[in-house]
Amino acid sequence: MQTVSSSHLWPSADGVWHQLHLAPEASQAGAAGLFDAAIVVEQGRIVWVGAYADLPAPYQQEIRHNAQGALVTPGWVDCHTHLVYGGQRANEFAMRLAGASYEEVSRAGGGIVSSVKATRAASEEELFDAAVPRLQALLAEGVCAIEIKSGYGLSLEHERKQLRVARRLGQALGVTVRTTFLGAHALPPEYAGRSDDYIRLVCDDMMPALAAEGLVDAVDVFCETIGFTLAQTEHVFQAAQALGLPVKLHAEQLSDMGGSALAARYGALSCDHIEHLSAQGIAAMRQAGTVAVLLPGAYFTLRDDHLPPIAALRAAGVPMAVSTDHNPGTSPTLSLLLMLNMACTLFRLTVPEALAGVTRHAAQALGLQATHGSIAVGCPANFVLWPLSDVSELAYWLGQRPSCSVVRQGRLAVDGMALHQRAT
Ligand code: NIG
Ligand code: FE
Repeated sequence: MQTVSSSHLWPSADGVWHQLHLAPEASQAGAAGLFDAAIVVEQGRIVWVGAYADLPAPYQQEIRHNAQGALVTPGWVDCHTHLVYGGQRANEFAMRLAGASYEEVSRAGGGIVSSVKATRAASEEELFDAAVPRLQALLAEGVCAIEIKSGYGLSLEHERKQLRVARRLGQALGVTVRTTFLGAHALPPEYAGRSDDYIRLVCDDMMPALAAEGLVDAVDVFCETIGFTLAQTEHVFQAAQALGLPVKLHAEQLSDMGGSALAARYGALSCDHIEHLSAQGIAAMRQAGTVAVLLPGAYFTLRDDHLPPIAALRAAGVPMAVSTDHNPGTSPTLSLLLMLNMACTLFRLTVPEALAGVTRHAAQALGLQATHGSIAVGCPANFVLWPLSDVSELAYWLGQRPSCSVVRQGRLAVDGMALHQRAT
């Protein structure tokens, strides 16, 4: 079993963090951010943030943490991942290079179903051990909250195993984890030709049982020609609604199925992928307050050339989030910084839009906007200190990880800048 360093042993972040350059996304700081800023943390929560010159007298005597002029951003939120699975699918990479499409790989018995075989064959311990280094890689870059989906088990026993691992990862590594039940990810082989029967199993047996065990924070469906139909998606949404669970959707990735408009009718937290999203879908999402989650890693890996309708989303004011979509098939990346770069270079997001995409808007896609994705009074102390002078550098460097320090859940969880050893 993986031994994971216990989070209660990390140094407390309580005290006054000073010599900070607050990134524009960090608070109400202006376009350039706020230089010479301070953050006060008490009992793991942010109790004050602003210009150091305005630090209230009662905080003057508290312990000091000198950030040496670091740029500070909110802790990242990775709002769409499939982090827990068995095996890997490098063979599909080669198949795609030889010209096969995602649909062809999937119809040839590869794709999601091949990860299902490997995930079912793995024990809970094995899945946990395999997921720990993946999560550690994301945490090292500043992730402070993450969504983890099931969807490689496709039976009660194996979906439970995945979701239990997701919960355990959050506890063991001291990070906020939101679990999403994605039982309707693919048709398991034993249900071949009986997709409606499988959807009934998802709705009537798996979802209520897993929700009763406290393993489900939201429900998702892969609505696609190689996934499930609109009617089947609605059946799942109704079951989720009956249990009081919020919904999300893998929507319009390969074709326009109208899934986003349906999801919006159910008040979905987010619609994700959305390369083929229509004008009606955008209007429905805007009305429902549904977040558009952009997944440039999958777009890149599948060598997609159908861009999501960024300009129309922007014009409509639909909040856009950016996520890794980490999964072994279509997005084998463990770098949210790389996704920032790709969101800008491939999808033409501005740097501020991309930063909002991995902070405020990503938190909103998980229903966590009151506590995560910004540096605000009352929030748990989750922020990242970067040895960078310009906020654009977060998106500019390509495949290179600046060593940051991370305050997560009120503790100095990562200290790449060696701030702990330095003078205050
Ligand atoms: O978000 N599109 C469906 N789900 C995943 C891919 C899962 C897989 O291929 O294993 C996605 O891209
Ligand atoms: Fe996904």
